[in-house]
Amino acid sequence: MPAQVPSAVVADGYRFDSPAEVFHENSKIRRIGNAPGLSAEAVHAMSHGYKVYAASPTVELPPPLEVGSTVLEAIRGRRCVRDYGPAPLSLAQIATILFVAQGVPGSGQLHRSVPSGGGLFPLEIYLAPAGVAGLDDAVYHYDVRGHRLELIPGAAGIDALRPCIFVPEAAATASVFMAVTAVFGRSRIKYGERAYRFALMESGHVMQNVALTCAALSVGFCPFGGFVDDEVNAVLGVDGLDESALYLGTFGTLPRPASAARAGDAARPSPKNQEQGESR
Ligand SMILES: Cc1cc2nc3c(=O)[nH]c(=O)nc-3n(C[C@H](O)[C@H](O)[C@H](O)COP(=O)(O)O)c2cc1C
Repeated sequence: MPAQVPSAVVADGYRFDSPAEVFHENSKIRRIGNAPGLSAEAVHAMSHGYKVYAASPTVELPPPLEVGSTVLEAIRGRRCVRDYGPAPLSLAQIATILFVAQGVPGSGQLHRSVPSGGGLFPLEIYLAPAGVAGLDDAVYHYDVRGHRLELIPGAAGIDALRPCIFVPEAAATASVFMAVTAVFGRSRIKYGERAYRFALMESGHVMQNVALTCAALSVGFCPFGGFVDDEVNAVLGVDGLDESALYLGTFGTLPRPASAARAGDAARPSPKNQEQGESR
């Protein structure tokens, strides 16, 4: 049974018509009263913004691929793809997507491929592949420190995630799913209610990195915000409260070679790599 949230609250003369308005108001930073400070717990959390499945079998990932496109070429060519070809993705393509989503580019743990409020890194990345050489058709968690995948014991694979998409036919031919979750407490310890905003912002950073990298790699990709939350959480084995799915991505090869797509889309200003997807 979902929690009952008042749909209208009167405070300081304002009427809030939705839980979102109540939340937004309560997560504003103000100059007095609730200025966030850096507690000892927050300092500790800063060096612990990652999850490890220590007892799981792991798969080491190859280094990320170098891509030839410029950022502007990738931006011009990016389109959502919901109709994928039958060829599987390679482990190197998967490794590149995971690295740009949340990888650690340097030797220290303080920086990732995406920015994070306070360097607290509340996000986790999960992957459900099918037919990728070197991976089981299962669910994996991305270990950011080791750039490797950890098998989630007992988790059903991509076929359990497919029906969780609100319009399942949009993901019917995808061969890889990615899920971005947030462990909200990592940021809340410093930012209070505002941490929820940060988690959403940061998942946008992740997906834009992924979208542009897929455009540059000629990999088909679509982000999904329309999914049945707790069904996805159940597949990933997260509780939906302390850690919850925020954003899904589907991947696959393009349905025809990039060269043919380029020829067919010659009228577009920068048709590189991409198929036009149906708008949702
Ligand atoms: C936050 C967000 C949520 C989205 N959710 C879905 C979704 O649930 N299903 C879907 O098919 N596309 C989804 N999309 C993709 C949009 O439909 C797509 O970006 C839009 O139609 C524009 O097309 P383009 O990305 O190819 O330019 C989502 C995009 C964003 C940014």
